[in-house]
Amino acid sequence: MVQIDLSNKKYLITGGAGTGVGSGVCEAIAACGGQILINDIDAKKAEASAKKYPNAISIPGDISNPEEVERIFSIIKKEHGIIHGLINNAGVGFRKKAHLYTTTEFDHLYNIDVKGLWMMSRAFVNQLIDENQIGHIVNISSVHARETLSKYAIYASAKAAVEGLTRGMSIELGEMGIRCNAIAPGYIDSEQNMEAAAAWTNDPETWFKNQKNEYQSLRHTITSRDCGNAVVFLLSDLSRSITGQTIIIDAGFTNLLHSNSFITDKI
Ligand SMILES: NC(=O)c1ccc[n+]([C@@H]2O[C@H](COP(=O)([O-])OP(=O)(O)OC[C@H]3O[C@@H](n4cnc5c(N)ncnc54)[C@H](O)[C@@H]3O)[C@@H](O)[C@H]2O)c1
Repeated sequence: MVQIDLSNKKYLITGGAGTGVGSGVCEAIAACGGQILINDIDAKKAEASAKKYPNAISIPGDISNPEEVERIFSIIKKEHGIIHGLINNAGVGFRKKAHLYTTTEFDHLYNIDVKGLWMMSRAFVNQLIDENQIGHIVNISSVHARETLSKYAIYASAKAAVEGLTRGMSIELGEMGIRCNAIAPGYIDSEQNMEAAAAWTNDPETWFKNQKNEYQSLRHTITSRDCGNAVVFLLSDLSRSITGQTIIIDAGFTNLLHSNSFITDKI
């Protein structure tokens, strides 16, 4: 029987206190026996989230701030030793046309989604090198890295940068045995997606129900745990020959031309 065993290993999840993808990643790692270190900018949420998993620890901090990144990794070094994986999950996105973004809004998004992810990866890799250890990175991208919609151009470009970093860093880190991969989720079942959908429909629940039937080839709702399960695969030795890749977790959303009912045969 093939099983993923992450016991005796430690994993740092940025933005891990969120109700979306991060919660599924925490659940999946904990289910495979791994110890989780939950980072989040919201210290209270990080504390509360750490209470849900055995031996979990919260390490609050803002990953977009270079001093905070340094502080996070010095705590890890002093108090927890080496960590075996970094999951760069913290990310923000808001719907606005690129020509209407302010410079402050652009910087805010890029400082978290791209620069923060790179600063965390840099600190993690340098710690591995100092300690002569091997660990792996999994970045959280999005289907928007490849196909996108109006009002998502800045977010889409940030996620394309995440995938570029994933490919490029995988080449640079390969000789050390460090793998760097990504997952790109579609619309997952999450509170914030329900809230976001309120901008375009009066009935988000029905919209989500219909969207999975119309726009996905698989007709079930994608869960945060589906994302977490792919992440544990990428952290484990089962994926030892996979690096620089992005696994799309979209239930067939991006392969479908228009919608399931775009062309319907008469008989
Ligand atoms: N929800 C989806 O459908 C979906 C789809 C594709 C990709 N994603 C990606 O998944 C990741 C998680 O998003 P989510 O939708 O699950 O959101 P979420 O809001 O549930 O989680 C994000 C967490 O990141 C934290 N955070 C924000 N800024 C931070 C910072 N500077 N430092 C540390 N933590 C910070 C927030 O406090 C929050 O807890 C993001 O990278 C997002 O782009 C989400």
